[in-house]
Amino acid sequence: MEIRGDRLKIAPITIEDAYAMRQWGTHENPLLFDYNLPPLSDEEIKEWYYYKTIGSNKRYYSVYNEENNFVGYMGIKHIRKMLREATLGIVFDPNYLNRGYGTEGIITYLNYFFNEMKMKTMYLEVAKFNKRAIRCYEKSGFKVIDVYLDEFFDQNLDLNDPCFLSEKSSFVIRNGKIYNYIYKMKIDRKAYLKEREQIGRHKTRPTIE
Ligand SMILES: CC(C)(COP(=O)(O)OP(=O)(O)OC[C@H]1O[C@@H](n2cnc3c(N)ncnc32)[C@H](O)[C@@H]1OP(=O)(O)O)[C@@H](O)C(=O)NCCC(=O)NCCS
Repeated sequence: MEIRGDRLKIAPITIEDAYAMRQWGTHENPLLFDYNLPPLSDEEIKEWYYYKTIGSNKRYYSVYNEENNFVGYMGIKHIRKMLREATLGIVFDPNYLNRGYGTEGIITYLNYFFNEMKMKTMYLEVAKFNKRAIRCYEKSGFKVIDVYLDEFFDQNLDLNDPCFLSEKSSFVIRNGKIYNYIYKMKIDRKAYLKEREQIGRHKTRPTIE
């Protein structure tokens, strides 16, 4: 099974791609360190892969660019079949950011999600400081529906780091603990169709082979 966009191909993630993630670039911004893959053994990669792929409430895919390079992975989790809803997850190789791949990947997958899987609603959660991701989601038609505070993944973050200082309003420090705002975003079928009308330039349906 393959879902095709203009430049991208989305196909079920393979164990070979999971191993290839060890060659990915790294984020310099400490706020994004959670997306840097730690050094993992073959066994740990296998565990990660099976965690992502086993079970019927999630589906994970590799994303390949026009040169057939593995540039990222994306997927849906918490699939609720009765309610026809799921939550998006997406992570691209830091070497391939800001090229429109994230937005194209999401729009292409939304076509499949709503038209082929006949799903109704897609949710996602994103840190307020992650402005690139938020921009990408907004371009894809998602809207913020809720905001909440969560514990930041790195309690030893350098509070003098310029990346932190420029996003200070996305954080709260309470009793010495670092919290950050998380946006919950949503797109439903109706909003998706409206968005497609407005975008216009995007193809109507993905090619599935
Ligand atoms: C989030 C992610 C999937 C987006 O994919 P991408 O291919 O980099 O995004 P796109 O190029 O499609 O779109 C990025 C948009 O954000 C904009 N942008 C980039 N940095 C920005 C910043 N600091 N502030 C505001 N906008 C920013 C870009 O200009 C572009 O918008 P434009 O087309 O209007 O110019 C990708 O960056 C990624 O994997 N990041 C690391 C992991 C991550 O954050 N995952 C999401 C977790 S919720």
